[in-house]
Amino acid sequence: MRVVIIGGTGNISTSIVRVLLEKGHDVTCFNRGKSGTLPEGVRQIIGDRYDRESFEKTMQAEKFDGAIDMICFNAEDAESDVRAFQSVGHFVFCSTTCTYGVDYDWLPTTEDHPQRAFTSYGKNKVTAERVFLREYYASGFPAVIIRPSTTYGNKLGLLRQIAWDYSWLDRIRKGKPILVSGDGKAIHQFLHVDDAAYGFVGALERDNCIGQAYNLVRDDFYQFDTYHRTAMEIIGREVPMIGIPLDTLTAIDVKRFQICFDEFAFNDYYSSAKIYRDIPEFRPKISLKEGMTMVLDSMERDGRIPNSDDIRWEDDLIELSMKLRDYKFIG
Ligand SMILES: NC(=O)c1ccc[n+]([C@@H]2O[C@H](COP(=O)([O-])OP(=O)(O)OC[C@H]3O[C@@H](n4cnc5c(N)ncnc54)[C@H](OP(=O)(O)O)[C@@H]3O)[C@@H](O)[C@H]2O)c1
Repeated sequence: MRVVIIGGTGNISTSIVRVLLEKGHDVTCFNRGKSGTLPEGVRQIIGDRYDRESFEKTMQAEKFDGAIDMICFNAEDAESDVRAFQSVGHFVFCSTTCTYGVDYDWLPTTEDHPQRAFTSYGKNKVTAERVFLREYYASGFPAVIIRPSTTYGNKLGLLRQIAWDYSWLDRIRKGKPILVSGDGKAIHQFLHVDDAAYGFVGALERDNCIGQAYNLVRDDFYQFDTYHRTAMEIIGREVPMIGIPLDTLTAIDVKRFQICFDEFAFNDYYSSAKIYRDIPEFRPKISLKEGMTMVLDSMERDGRIPNSDDIRWEDDLIELSMKLRDYKFIG
């Protein structure tokens, strides 16, 4: 298939490109040429998807068989895709499990669960999904919606529960305690990008996936404390976790702890049954420990782990919570 990816050099899309090549597709990436190089044999079209007219004209002229959009974030981006890809036979939209919100009627959350997104990111992805579904029902636009949960890889790095911050890895290295939210036991699903790529490519290749939405998750889950402990095991040092109530974290600095407030403090458990049923080659093989080891190695190689001695907020917060006795010690 002649396939175009909008993106192609990102955290997930780098792996998608590799799997597309492995499966013999003719691959083109559309991006601004700012975020990295592409493997040999991949064609690149340099452009900006927000330059709508040029993006749509270029895509219309190319007449690709299939397209995957990794950077569609709202209804306007989706409408632009519908104009750009009128002649494709398969179109995959990368959405997110954040479209569900965190208020669940049943677990594991299946694809037909009401969508109660409360972040602007999640709400905007819902509006994009609705454009694609409307077009599918109105004119057969061949859209497949993929909703990944946390999908980690070398480019993203190893996230933690409470903040968008990588200094926790250096704290472990140096034997310093790390902060978590509440008892640190919120449930979450983690998927390595190399496994995720088979879900995207499988969805692109199948007629029976068109018009469907899929959670892109492994069939297992972890509690965040296990995730943090796995990092400790890999690094070879155990440190205590100090739990602080989510309300305290957000009262102190809502921006710093946004990722926790938006998602990671809550139990998330999405059903993988539908994607396992319809896309048999999506069978994640990379264990959490293997995946985290690969990402940690790449972060170390690239010098992307900040020196925690230069960052004060975590020690300050631990000190304050001890003074106020507003914490839970998790050994
Ligand atoms: N990772 C997760 O845990 C997770 C979970 C759920 C959903 N998602 C979804 O995954 C998607 C991100 O995928 P990813 O990780 O592969 O991407 P990414 O790491 O965000 O990389 C973005 C890619 O898009 C290109 N790009 C950025 N802005 C562009 C523009 N204006 N015009 C053309 N190209 C542009 C970049 O190349 P240039 O900079 O060179 O243009 C790069 O190739 C998002 O839709 C996100 O919502 C991720």
